[in-house]
Amino acid sequence: MDKAQRPGRRTVLSVAALGAGAAVLGGGAGTAVAAGRGHGGGHSNGELPFPLVVGHRGASGYRPEHTFGSYQLALDMGADVIEQDLVPTKDGHLVCRHENDITATTDVADHPEFAGRKTTKTVDGVKLTGWFTEDFTLAELKTLRAKERIPQTRQHNTLYNGRWDVPTFEEVLQWAEREGRKRGRRIWLHIETKHPTYFRKLGLGLEERLAKLLRQYGRHKKNSPNFLQSFEPSSIQRLDKLVDCPKVVLLGTLKDQPWDFKEAGDKRTVADLVKPEGLRWIASFAQGIGPDLTVIIPRTSDGKLGKPSSVVKDAHAAHLVLHPYTVRNENTFLPVDLRKGSDPNAYGDSLAYFKALFATGIDGLFSDNPDTALLAAAEFRKS
Ligand code: G3P
Ligand code: CA
Repeated sequence: MDKAQRPGRRTVLSVAALGAGAAVLGGGAGTAVAAGRGHGGGHSNGELPFPLVVGHRGASGYRPEHTFGSYQLALDMGADVIEQDLVPTKDGHLVCRHENDITATTDVADHPEFAGRKTTKTVDGVKLTGWFTEDFTLAELKTLRAKERIPQTRQHNTLYNGRWDVPTFEEVLQWAEREGRKRGRRIWLHIETKHPTYFRKLGLGLEERLAKLLRQYGRHKKNSPNFLQSFEPSSIQRLDKLVDCPKVVLLGTLKDQPWDFKEAGDKRTVADLVKPEGLRWIASFAQGIGPDLTVIIPRTSDGKLGKPSSVVKDAHAAHLVLHPYTVRNENTFLPVDLRKGSDPNAYGDSLAYFKALFATGIDGLFSDNPDTALLAAAEFRKS
């Protein structure tokens, strides 16, 4: 794979906006942290910009999520990193879906041959009725077509319903190789293990399967162009023993508790994990955190944009990068004071939101609208 750097990229080796001096992080990656300037972006030898933009499920503001239409558009728009969420099939293949319930994002309900597979399950404490990837072989899943998850909000995306199938993660790795050769640079991925404890109990552990594929494609090293992410810290700890590429612990809102903590009787919440002690614990096996946006800038009681918390400073002090999620252009997803007009599906002032978030010093963010995010990021990359 071509390791050529992108023009205009930072050349400092850095992890976080630190002024505290060099350090070596714990965990398998053992990534060096640069002293001084503090332009991060994570583990990329300056290959990635600061701040970086992750195309969330591709460019899911414009195409049905987790399709090659969505991934390709995100890359063509210039997203620095492209995200995949991974779940397994019955025969153990990793496929790209946000959840194992494929009712909302495929045409499975229109397939009479699969009517009998509709079932009710409890996944991470939530009762769901629908069709689930772990009940389908890959060959069966490949007969389905992807569709827009939120057609009421993103009617324009329904134009592409049925155009693409459900990608396997291996197909994504092959696509990234092809695109890398074409562009003369490496294609960065941000790869999430979904419901890892749930799948391990079914005998479909995700981490070993993911590590095997990463090794097969030479993406298991500390300088490989991947971030690995999970809402379950134990999944990241497991991955840390298997591969060296940088890892990010996802965090929900302050009151949330990781599912693996619940299962293990660990009482800590996200509020505990973003305290200095919690962050130091995360830094013993990961190189970053991916918090909910409201952990970075809380909302006021009436839903407006509040004042930034200390989490950016505290995480950087623990030598962790921050990749919060997820900015979307539509009013319905924005703080109420950034909404424009009364149509929840119309675009609000997302540029102001991006600007406020980047101003906190975050190292990057996830967005469904990578083009808008990149426009906002450009102002910060200049300074
Ligand atoms: O992985 C970052 C962000 O995607 C986390 O939220 O639920 O969209 O996977 P989710
Ligand atoms: Ca995700």
